[in-house]
Amino acid sequence: MIKLAVLCSGRGTDLQSIIDAIQSGKLDAKISVVLTDKPGVKALERAERAGIKNLCVNRKNFSERADFEAALSKEIGEVDLIALAGFMRILSPEFVRKYPGKIMNIHPSLLPSFPGAHAHRDALAYGAKVSGCTVHFVDEGTDSGPIILQAAVEVKDDDTEETLSARILEKEHIIYPQAIQFFAEGRLEVEGRKVILKPQKNL
Ligand code: GAR
Repeated sequence: MIKLAVLCSGRGTDLQSIIDAIQSGKLDAKISVVLTDKPGVKALERAERAGIKNLCVNRKNFSERADFEAALSKEIGEVDLIALAGFMRILSPEFVRKYPGKIMNIHPSLLPSFPGAHAHRDALAYGAKVSGCTVHFVDEGTDSGPIILQAAVEVKDDDTEETLSARILEKEHIIYPQAIQFFAEGRLEVEGRKVILKPQKNL
C-alpha cells in the first residue's frame, strides 16, 4: 500500500474520487495528509469527514515561495506520491526536484492543448471539438510532464465552461484514481516523455 499526500486548493471533488476509490477497495493507498494553500476550503472538510489528517499551509502567510514550499514539504513528510488535485499553484523546479517521479497532477484538457489555469475557457474559445483530461507526472515545466492517462470528452456547440467542466470532471474522477492505482502497482515506467504501462503481475 502506498502513502499519499494530496494537495488541493478548493472544492476537492478529485480528492473525493481518491478517497472513494480507497474506501471501495479500488485503490490500494493511504492518504497520510491533505494539504491546502487556502483556508476554509471544501477539500479540508472532505478530508475531515473521511478521518484524514488535513491542514492549510496558507500561501498568504509567506512572502517567499521557497518558505511556503518548505512548510509544505515539512507537512508532506515521507510519502510515496504527492497527488495534486485541483492545486492551483505552480511548484518551483527546486520543489519538483526533491520528489523525482513522485508528483502527479490532473489537468482538465487533453495536454499539450490548453495548459494553464483556464483550460475549459481556452478550449471553448479555440473552438475545439474534443477536450478531456490528462493525468501526468509533474516535471519542472507547467502541465508539461509525461502523460499517464487521458480521457476524451466531446465539446458541444452549446457548451459553457460550467457544462464542459462538469462532463470532464466525471472522467477525471475515473482516471485519477486509476492512474494512482497503476503507480501503486509499480506499473508505470517512464522512458523520456513516454509512460509505459507494464502488464499486471500475476498474483
Ligand atoms: C479539476 O477540474 C482539475 O482538473 C483542475 O481543477 C479542478 C479541481 O476540482 N486542475 C487544474 O486546473 C490544475 N491546473 P476539484 O477541486 O473539485 O477537485
